[in-house]
Amino acid sequence: MDWTEGYVDVGYTHDFYRELTPALHRFALLSRGIDAGGDLDKIRYCELGCGHGFSSVLLAAAHPDGEFHANDFLPGHIAYARKLAEDTGTTNITLYDDAFDAFGQRDLPDFDIIALHGVYTWVSEENRRHIVDFIARRLKVGGIVYISYNCHPGWATVRPLRDLMIMFSGNPTDPVLPRIDQALAKIQLLFDTNSMYTRLNPMLKDRFDSIRKQARSYVAHEYFNRDWTIFYHSDVARELRDAKLDFATTVQLFDHLDNFNLTPEQQKLLSETGNIDHREVLRDFIMNRQFRRDLYAKGGLPLSADDRNARIAAMRFVLTTLPADISRNVLTTLGSLGLNAAVFDPVIAAFAKGPRTIADVMDADETRALGLPVILEAVIILVGNNHMQPCLPAAGDAARAERTAVFNTAILERALNSNDLLFLASPLTGGGFQLNRFDQMFLLAQQRNHKDPAAFVCDRLIARNEGMVRDGKALRTAEENLAYLRERYADFQRRLPILQQLGIA
Ligand SMILES: C[S@@+](CC[C@H](N)C(=O)[O-])C[C@H]1O[C@@H](n2cnc3c(N)ncnc32)[C@H](O)[C@@H]1O
Repeated sequence: MDWTEGYVDVGYTHDFYRELTPALHRFALLSRGIDAGGDLDKIRYCELGCGHGFSSVLLAAAHPDGEFHANDFLPGHIAYARKLAEDTGTTNITLYDDAFDAFGQRDLPDFDIIALHGVYTWVSEENRRHIVDFIARRLKVGGIVYISYNCHPGWATVRPLRDLMIMFSGNPTDPVLPRIDQALAKIQLLFDTNSMYTRLNPMLKDRFDSIRKQARSYVAHEYFNRDWTIFYHSDVARELRDAKLDFATTVQLFDHLDNFNLTPEQQKLLSETGNIDHREVLRDFIMNRQFRRDLYAKGGLPLSADDRNARIAAMRFVLTTLPADISRNVLTTLGSLGLNAAVFDPVIAAFAKGPRTIADVMDADETRALGLPVILEAVIILVGNNHMQPCLPAAGDAARAERTAVFNTAILERALNSNDLLFLASPLTGGGFQLNRFDQMFLLAQQRNHKDPAAFVCDRLIARNEGMVRDGKALRTAEENLAYLRERYADFQRRLPILQQLGIA
């Protein structure tokens, strides 16, 4: 029996996806005035189609009083995820190599959050029905669903390229990796022979070049599955309505700010469109979106303005980028916009003193005059650009830190031999923080009290025959390698306060 249902049978990447983080969901919902999603510290969370499971295992480690479940029908993915959970001492997660229909038959608890990232586009209509049935049965009233998928119209130009890849990739039952090279070589000829399609759509060249550089495992999962459905927002909203879900908001927080993304005429067009589904579709066209990351709620409660403001003010945030490294320009659909220094400088300076609530910032002398709406807009921009993260309640920091310390040490030890897991868990945010392999090894060296962390990392890498590369040139001598690592270590130390504030170092 072919249990893969046209899905590529090859391992996926090992990333952590920030969009899956419960505290981020909470902030996105509250900023839209919606109360949903349960008690964050005792969250019951289910990820469907979890891949190698790094996101779910990390989230479980960072929510030790929560209960996590995740499935994926590729046994290699689940074997990896179970081993990762074991190696990191993460016991509050159960991982299943079930397909969606079998998973729905299990005796599982009711969930506060059901999340599926990068799944809905890549499965059949029948499997989408299994997913919706699962949500209908397993999501609590007041629970939320995070879902992401490829959407119109951002794929309009590129979609034919994907169709050609499939057409020229040979027999779908043969191993996928060699078929990818075969298909890409054929498409290269379209560019070489200057076809009208590639000539009239100049952005295709960059797109094709980036596909060629992407990890083959990613390309296989993105482009080479039998099922690949591009949706309008309204299609997905309609399907999810069968599980009693209403669209709540996107977690692409920056998109919450119409003034930064839309012209006055575009804002008027949207405000005159009464149907929320049509409004979201129009927004996708205005922004030429190709991927949506959305939250849906089952019976989410609208908050009064006072309640919403009180709950937003009580939320705590932590900077994840040093103030000096935060760009004072943001890229939006309207182009590159400068941020108002009179607002951003004092707000960033206030949060640079350490994790704090919006209420704390509203009380501080330097920022008191700004008021909640202005501070909140600045926070949305900082969170939306991944310079800041919302936190879990402070009361649970110490208990979470005990668990994340064990998890993080296990990840750091892996970094000595591997480059696959590039995130650590923060007990404050309950989510992941990206840290490259050098930085992970420096942190491990510090934890082990090595006198010269750069030399420790250098010895380790050279012993493994892993010489370094600088500006595309391989560094040959031990001295060159060490000098390079000393520079990297100095930069790591400069950024160390961020790791300390996140409760990671
Ligand atoms: C593009 S990957 C995304 C993985 C993961 N969510 C992530 O973002 O890293 C889609 C995942 O869905 C899983 N999948 C596809 N069809 C499935 C099915 N019918 N039942 C269970 N899992 C399935 C695949 O094995 C794959 O790991």
